Amino acid sequence: MKFDTDGTGINLNNKAELVSTLKAYHEKLISGSMEFTGWVNLPGKTLPGNAEQNLIEDILAAAAEIREKCTLCIVIGIGGSYLGARAVIDALDGSRGGYPEIMFAGYNMSASHLDKVVRRMQREAVCLCVISKSGSTVEPLLSYSVLKEKLIEKYGKDEAGQRIYVITDKDNGELRREADENGYRAFDVPADIGGRYSVLSPVGLLPAAASGHDIRALLKGAADIASDEGWGGSLLDYAACRVALQKQGKSIEVFEYFESNLHYFGEWLKQLFCESEGKEGKGAFTTCLSFSRDIHSVGQFLQQGSRIFYETLIRVKETDYDFVIPESAGFPYAGKSLEAINDCSAGGVIEAHKKAGIPIMTVEVPCIDAYNMGQLIYFFEMSCALSAMAIGVNPFDQPGVEDYKREMRRLVEEL
Ligand code: PA5
Repeated sequence: MKFDTDGTGINLNNKAELVSTLKAYHEKLISGSMEFTGWVNLPGKTLPGNAEQNLIEDILAAAAEIREKCTLCIVIGIGGSYLGARAVIDALDGSRGGYPEIMFAGYNMSASHLDKVVRRMQREAVCLCVISKSGSTVEPLLSYSVLKEKLIEKYGKDEAGQRIYVITDKDNGELRREADENGYRAFDVPADIGGRYSVLSPVGLLPAAASGHDIRALLKGAADIASDEGWGGSLLDYAACRVALQKQGKSIEVFEYFESNLHYFGEWLKQLFCESEGKEGKGAFTTCLSFSRDIHSVGQFLQQGSRIFYETLIRVKETDYDFVIPESAGFPYAGKSLEAINDCSAGGVIEAHKKAGIPIMTVEVPCIDAYNMGQLIYFFEMSCALSAMAIGVNPFDQPGVEDYKREMRRLVEEL
């Protein structure tokens, strides 16, 4: 993985105070003394020979059971209990051959979406994996209640019970009670890990393992970044540039990717940064564009519109796929690799935007595999926590979302 801040116009040598503040925050985060920082050291603890290696064995055993029982595993959750798993599985090109397809539900209250899920469920051998840390979030609970009824209709109560997997708080909430009462197979969302930082806990690991992906490689990627001093420096640089750019009045961060399998990784990034930073009137609004598609829609604005944003471009050097462009495409494309031309598009954006004075950073990975996804996840989680602390907000709460939950419940009670 490579990280480059050259295109930001920011000289970090002149930001010594900010960098040293970030270093102090980094030490605080890794010390384990702060609330909700269980995610910081968890990847390392799961490696062979460490405290949480049994957790990985349990997750792999549950994933093997799911593989035996079904062809369709419906993962029910929202926000941090949904996006991380979807980001990893989609980036790795969906389920591997011979593993159940993962279908997501419970991330909206659209009856037409739920109807699609129910129709699929009737045609296939199914398991449900319901994920909610609080065990009380309305969207997943409603979908779960409908899908559980359908599962019982299909298999009967006892067999349905063998096909339900629950990931929730160890002690509290509706889901925990339900899992304990019915003897469902359950995993804990660690109390010291909040939703959007939970992808490398059972929340993301069970769905990723059930779809056949190498969760040990995912965790190793994250653990390697966490323990690498060089990367420690890049994390601080990224966080420092983000803070400096926000101080210059850049209030939007545009993530950009050229590899379509990263779509849900972009959705995960949006949640991570918006929910961690966007409070007390602070933070950058984070959005994500799919290139080269969006160059032909919003690219004009980026190049010449109002300068309220900075960019973070995710560049993938190689994928497992390629095409040699046929002769009929003519000069200069014929005979060249589609992947190489796609990378020229990334190079073109970087050059054109630098010339236009738009601050741009690049994060480059050699390829998209489980190891590199682990690296990307940890890189962005840590730099997000750091920059949120540096702008003076708590990276780990979401009071605004809680306001919505209260208002929504009041309206439903009035129905
Ligand atoms: O990051 C967060 O904490 C939130 O996005 C939650 O993940 C989301 O609201 C879902 O919460 P829960 O897992 O309690 O259902």
